[in-house]
Order: sequence, then structure tokens, then C-alpha cells
Amino acid sequence: MKNNELKVAVVTGASSGIGAETVRALVKAGFQVYGGARRYDRLERLSRETRMTPLELDVRSTESVNVFVSRLPDAVHVLVNNAGGALGLDPVLEMDEMGWLDMYQSNVLGTARMARALFPRLCKSGLGHLVNIGSVAAFETYTGGAGYTAAKHAVRAITETLRLEWLGHPVRITEIDPGLVNTEFSLVRFNGDREKAKRVYEGMTPLSAEDVAEAVSWVVTRPAHVNVDSLLLRPLDQARVDRIFRRPSVP
Ligand SMILES: NC(=O)c1ccc[n+]([C@@H]2O[C@H](COP(=O)([O-])OP(=O)(O)OC[C@H]3O[C@@H](n4cnc5c(N)ncnc54)[C@H](OP(=O)(O)O)[C@@H]3O)[C@@H](O)[C@H]2O)c1
Repeated sequence: MKNNELKVAVVTGASSGIGAETVRALVKAGFQVYGGARRYDRLERLSRETRMTPLELDVRSTESVNVFVSRLPDAVHVLVNNAGGALGLDPVLEMDEMGWLDMYQSNVLGTARMARALFPRLCKSGLGHLVNIGSVAAFETYTGGAGYTAAKHAVRAITETLRLEWLGHPVRITEIDPGLVNTEFSLVRFNGDREKAKRVYEGMTPLSAEDVAEAVSWVVTRPAHVNVDSLLLRPLDQARVDRIFRRPSVP
């Protein structure tokens, strides 16, 4: 790489929430950023503000991942596997199989597909960095959350397996595991029900997408020999995934 060339970062799920803020943070840190998601109109809007290169991407499809990757430079320094989320809050006895499959496709297979497709480009950069966005749901469970927590537990298994399989290659691997973050996550989980989504954050202060993006930016800017394995971030008001301190609302 010539001295005046920017390092390249790729962010999946860049159309909203943590992904969009990560794009802003990495642009600010001096990266040339490529952002992927299904909602291209939103990516375009973000690209006007940040000069990110917008590319359509559905991580549930190998074909879409391959087309996306074919449009990237030969060398990629950072891949932030952020695309994903939860669908529904159904107990196991009432599980919506299609919803569960979708969560697996985006969170689990999507993460592995992107890692597989970008591996040669990450190596080519001389020092690549894979950052998977997991969740406290990768460590804990809660009633109605099995579809999502199982998927995020699986993401953690992939992160840890890749650290073994890629040992000796010039690629750092980090998982960032946030607690409650105020994004469109709950709106998507509850299928657009704004009231239900709002109640998730009622009376407490969640993390912001900027808080998580700052963590991403920090891990990828450590000295080359330092691998931050994992970083679990929670709001002060959250002790466990399902133990939240809520202040009574003032009438
Ligand atoms: N918010 C939280 O409390 C929280 C906590 C821990 C972990 N997380 C994780 O953080 C990540 C980002 O979520 P968020 O909180 O920022 O929620 P969000 O605002 O709903 O953003 C989710 C992003 O993922 C993208 N996405 C979803 N499915 C995709 C697919 N098949 N292909 C490509 N992009 C896809 C969405 O874009 P399109 O719909 O445009 O494709 C969107 O940009 C997720 O992995 C989530 O599980 C969130």
C-alpha cells in the first residue's frame, strides 16, 4: 500500500443503527468505507454525508455476498460484520420457524459467509481485522429470546473458531457484545410496532449506536500486535440481559 492510500473498511448493515454510526466513526478515523445493506436508498443518503461507497447487500444470500465482494478493492483492512438482528419474542413452544431461519441466515450464516468471502482480501492488506458484532445474548438467555440468543451464541462460536483456524494469518479477530442499544433493533423485532419498541427502553438509559461505534473504532486502531478478543458493553442500568433498572415515570 502506498503511503497516501487510505485503509479500507467494510461495514455490513450500514443502513441503520450501529452500522451507520460505525461508518461515520471509521470515516472519521481515516478509513475509506464501503457499506452494505438491503435498503440502498438509506445507504445513498449516508454516502452523501460521509463519502462511504454504498453497495447493495443481503447477507442471507451467497450470491449477493459474492457480487458485493467483487466490487471491493483487492485489499481490505477491516470487515465489520454487523448485519443482523432479532425477529419476534416467541417462546420455543410457539416458535415461528421462518423467523428463526431468517435470524440464522442473517446473524450466523451471514457472518460466516462474509468472513469466508473477505478472507483473501483481509490477508492481502498485510494486517486485516474482522470485527463481529455479537450481543450480551451471546452469553445469556431470556424468556422468548431463544431464537435470537441461539443465533448470537452461534456467532460467538464462529468468532472463537476463526481465531483458531486463522492463527498464523495476518488477521485480527474481535467480537463486540453490546447490551441494549437504542436503534431500530426493537422496531424490527416487533415488526414495526413503535409502542412495543419504545417500551424496551422505557425509564432507563440504553447505549447509543455511537457508543458501540466508538468501541469498533478503538479496537481497529490498536497497535498491530494487539488483538482485543472481545468487548462486552452494557448500559449502567442493565445488570443482565433481562435485569434492567427502570426509573418510575414522572406524572
Ligand atoms: N440494538 C441492540 O440492542 C443490539 C444489542 C446487541 C447486539 N445488536 C446487534 O447489532 C447489530 C446491528 O443492529 P442495530 O441495533 O444497529 O439494529 P438496526 O438499527 O435494526 O440495524 C440493523 C442493520 O442490519 C441490516 N441487516 C439486517 N439484515 C440484513 C441482511 N440480511 N443483509 C444485509 N443487511 C442486513 C439492516 O439493513 P437493511 O434492513 O437495510 O438490510 C440494518 O442496517 C445486529 O447484529 C444486532 O443483532 C444490537
